[in-house]
Amino acid sequence: MRLIILEDASVVADWAARFVLQRIKEFAPGPGRHFVLGLPTGGTPLGMYRRLIDFYREGKVSFKYVTTFNMDEYVGLPRDHPESYHYYMWHEFFKHVDISPEHAHVLDGTAEDLAAECQRFERLIEEAGGVHLFVGGIGPDGHIAFNEPGSSLVSRTRVKTLAYDTLEANKRFFDNDISKVPSKALTVGVGTVMDAKEVMILITGAHKALALSKAIEEGVNHMWTVSAFQQHAQALFVCDEDATLELRVKTVKYFKSLMGEHNKLIEDHS
Ligand code: PGA
Repeated sequence: MRLIILEDASVVADWAARFVLQRIKEFAPGPGRHFVLGLPTGGTPLGMYRRLIDFYREGKVSFKYVTTFNMDEYVGLPRDHPESYHYYMWHEFFKHVDISPEHAHVLDGTAEDLAAECQRFERLIEEAGGVHLFVGGIGPDGHIAFNEPGSSLVSRTRVKTLAYDTLEANKRFFDNDISKVPSKALTVGVGTVMDAKEVMILITGAHKALALSKAIEEGVNHMWTVSAFQQHAQALFVCDEDATLELRVKTVKYFKSLMGEHNKLIEDHS
């Protein structure tokens, strides 16, 4: 595991976007050879999307041969609902770059048969040849995608009932009224994300500090589902200083001493 500790959320956004940029460039996608990218929603990745849009406008990257899979979607929200993740992805990212809509996959939370929709999504990932890089965020309770505490660490895409903490954290998007937050979501499983070749998890803010310490300093535990990535061969946690507040000084010092190495990951060799 790599832990990248950066000054603040804006540096995290820039670093994460540069990492995605380098991975796409190194892969050199083209016709019949798509780079497959897993993507999150939420407040944390917004800055990364803005930087990626900048890179696209500056001609540094194209998404023409990139296929994306989003982590989750609320059940019952139509795609044009402003709080749906379809809407978020389209407005915050997809419409600003050259990705083809047919390559940008988001689960359909209004599907008549939700279980079949989840199976379809897993099948599409398989047909795409698997995910090269899955980018994720976490909740203060350590959930990755909507894999709430207690979720199976080998789970696949399915319907989940959201935990109270998640409803509480997300009510800010629904007039601060918890009763308006959809209580169910479709989400990729921990196992779905674990299958990606590489995983990058973005964690910013003091309110995520306990989750980060549970994720990396304690054992693998389904009550902190992000801790499963301790067993992933290529996992990067990218965090800001505030998110390190619950870590041991020893942990922080060690990973900071590796920053020279870590920064090689975002060097542009073109
Ligand atoms: P956030 O959400 O980025 O808005 O904090 C992350 C999550 O709940 O997974």
